[in-house]
Amino acid sequence: MHFPNALLSVLAATQALAHPGHDVREEALARRAYLESAKRTDLSHCAAKLRARGHEQRGVQRRQALAAQNAKRGIVQRAPSDINKTHLSTADFDQNTPLHDVFAVNASCVLSPEVTEGPYYVAGEFVRKDVTEKQAGVPLYIDIDILDVTTCDPVTDVWVEIWSCNATGVYSGVATGAAFKPAPENLNNTFLRGFQKSDADGAVQFASLFPGHYDGRTHHVHVAVHPSATERANNTIADSTVSHLGQMYFDQDLLDRVEALEPYASNTAGWTRNAQDWLLMQGLATSDPLMQYVLLGEKLEEGVLAWLSFGINTTYSKEAFVAATYYAEGGKANTKRPFLE
Ligand SMILES: *[C@@H]1O[C@H](CO)[C@@H](O)[C@H](O)[C@H]1NC(C)=O
Ligand SMILES: *[C@@H]1O[C@H](CO)[C@@H](O)[C@H](O)[C@H]1NC(C)=O
Ligand SMILES: *[C@@H]1O[C@H](CO)[C@@H](O)[C@H](O)[C@H]1NC(C)=O
Ligand SMILES: *[C@@H]1O[C@H](CO)[C@@H](O)[C@H](O)[C@H]1NC(C)=O
Ligand SMILES: *[C@@H]1O[C@H](CO)[C@@H](O)[C@H](O)[C@H]1NC(C)=O
Ligand SMILES: *[C@@H]1O[C@H](CO)[C@@H](O)[C@H](O)[C@H]1NC(C)=O
Repeated sequence: MHFPNALLSVLAATQALAHPGHDVREEALARRAYLESAKRTDLSHCAAKLRARGHEQRGVQRRQALAAQNAKRGIVQRAPSDINKTHLSTADFDQNTPLHDVFAVNASCVLSPEVTEGPYYVAGEFVRKDVTEKQAGVPLYIDIDILDVTTCDPVTDVWVEIWSCNATGVYSGVATGAAFKPAPENLNNTFLRGFQKSDADGAVQFASLFPGHYDGRTHHVHVAVHPSATERANNTIADSTVSHLGQMYFDQDLLDRVEALEPYASNTAGWTRNAQDWLLMQGLATSDPLMQYVLLGEKLEEGVLAWLSFGINTTYSKEAFVAATYYAEGGKANTKRPFLE
């Protein structure tokens, strides 16, 4: 019997800040303003309730099933050097740790209603679990669950959207390409963006790729919860009430390993480490936005399964800004707002 490759290292979060882009500052300020008025910034108060209701156990089973389904060559194995590495957790793992314990490890943070969602939010994207299209990179299976931060109840039947840049740091659907150069043809791309509807446990799963990096930010995956969106006949959703927004991050150790692989390694853009990232620093001040993960094979190239729980304040929502919209006739940039960055 083989066991998964766990987990996560302690983050050295004490470095001076680098030079984030303008949008990062704006987002950071908006998030700080929100958190100052929020009563809850993580889900630790929900732990007992979630366990009693079987929610935790179902999460464990869901992740275990996803791992089994996507593990390569039937092997899920932990490298000896990774033993005992865990982010913000006192859990110790070794080869004999039952899978149940590994998948039970929880991290959570609260999504905020922001109006300043960077320059990369695109409306009109597809409902689909697999968002990889033909991009190259390390497979990344994502399991997230959404909970009401006040009641700890799962938020069911809401559309959850993710988006991230590709292995060489480019977002699809915007008129900008590598190194922030104009690339109008990129408006027609849809890779690494998609929606899924939350199930009875508030959970969704995606098959994506590990994001690469671009100048000014550490690696991250965006997530948005759309409380009142509707799927259209052509399996797309265009809804600007992306009222609950957040970003998921990864341990620096894992990032270092991903970046050593192609095509990530060939990306010459500046590489901001976790400890230099403003938004991550703010997230860490109040909660734990770093994804828990296991490797799905002997080699990192074979894929990563990562998971995280989010709380949302269901009584609060706002319109967010849309950088572009994807239509049957191609993507169109929103020209009403000057492009930040
Ligand atoms: C949710 O948002 C409302 C409206 O801003 C606020 O009054 C309330 O305190 C928030 N609840 C929590 C748990 O943060
Ligand atoms: C999950 O988080 C809660 C609250 O922080 C904690 O009490 C519980 O032990 C955690 N569960 C695991 C398996 O780490
Ligand atoms: C992991 O932790 C256990 C218990 O503290 C310890 O006995 C073991 O040597 C550690 N393994 C590694 C590889 O550090
Ligand atoms: C990322 O997207 C850009 C724009 O489409 C493309 O030129 C580049 O090859 C992509 N990178 C990878 C690794 O597929
Ligand atoms: C995007 O795709 C549409 C429909 O195929 C096409 O008409 C349009 O010229 C494309 N736009 C760009 C910028 O390539
Ligand atoms: C999907 O349908 C909407 C509404 O009919 C339309 O505006 C949009 O262009 C379509 N998008 C795609 C990608 O076909």
